[in-house]
Amino acid sequence: MISWTSDDSFTISDIEYVCRPTTGRFPSTPDQFCLLKARWQVEWYAQLLSELVPRTLVEVGMYDGASMALCEEVAHPHKLVGIDRRESPSTALNEFIEGRGLHASVRPFYDVDQTDAGRLDEILETEFGDHPLDLVVDDASHLLDATRVTFNNVYPRLRPGGLYVIEDWPMHRLPEKSPPLTYLLFELILACSDAPGVVSDVSVNRNYVSITRGSTDLDARTFDLSQRYGPRARLIAQKFL
Ligand SMILES: C[S@@+](CC[C@H](N)C(=O)[O-])C[C@H]1O[C@@H](n2cnc3c(N)ncnc32)[C@H](O)[C@@H]1O
Repeated sequence: MISWTSDDSFTISDIEYVCRPTTGRFPSTPDQFCLLKARWQVEWYAQLLSELVPRTLVEVGMYDGASMALCEEVAHPHKLVGIDRRESPSTALNEFIEGRGLHASVRPFYDVDQTDAGRLDEILETEFGDHPLDLVVDDASHLLDATRVTFNNVYPRLRPGGLYVIEDWPMHRLPEKSPPLTYLLFELILACSDAPGVVSDVSVNRNYVSITRGSTDLDARTFDLSQRYGPRARLIAQKFL
């Protein structure tokens, strides 16, 4: 289905996707999307989507919508919700949705900050109700506090066995004084040991951390990862976080 035409470009159906993870970005058009991922990341996602076969997905951080279009083309989910703080809708994604009649299943929301817990909850409640999520991807700010807020609010909505992916945890491009996302990774590892019903697995590669949801019931209104590891682990966390 994905057909590579060069080291950094591929086509699916009649659309070309150009990989621009760091430089050389351009405004997407309906027949040529600018995707902020490298080739290995596209291949990683294609593999993940074919294994997990997610029916319900949320992407936080859509940019021009290339990754939304890619997810739709590869996984054909029942519902794919995208959230971004950018104010102007992506015309390329809008035309993609329009041309394929995907209004009910591909749902971008703009002008929404990932730290706006109330708005996130409203959107997810309206779009999914009680239906649990299979996959969440956070590719938005990559800032520690904002990523934490989104995680605490959205993670409880995953089904047991569902996956929460945080991209760009090494944060090479963030301002020097920003606290690194490695703090959150560390907390996730502590929770995985102390509360496997909450976090059943944490897997890290050079750019992504993938968290597998355990089977404990969680309430999105009150969930706080920092309360999900025990007192000894908290002593370690307080020393480092
Ligand atoms: C790395 S780009 C997303 C790339 C896209 N997923 C792809 O693979 O092509 C990050 C996006 O996150 C959005 N973003 C940054 N901070 C955000 C925040 N606090 N809340 C919501 N969206 C945010 C930006 O507007 C931008 O569109």
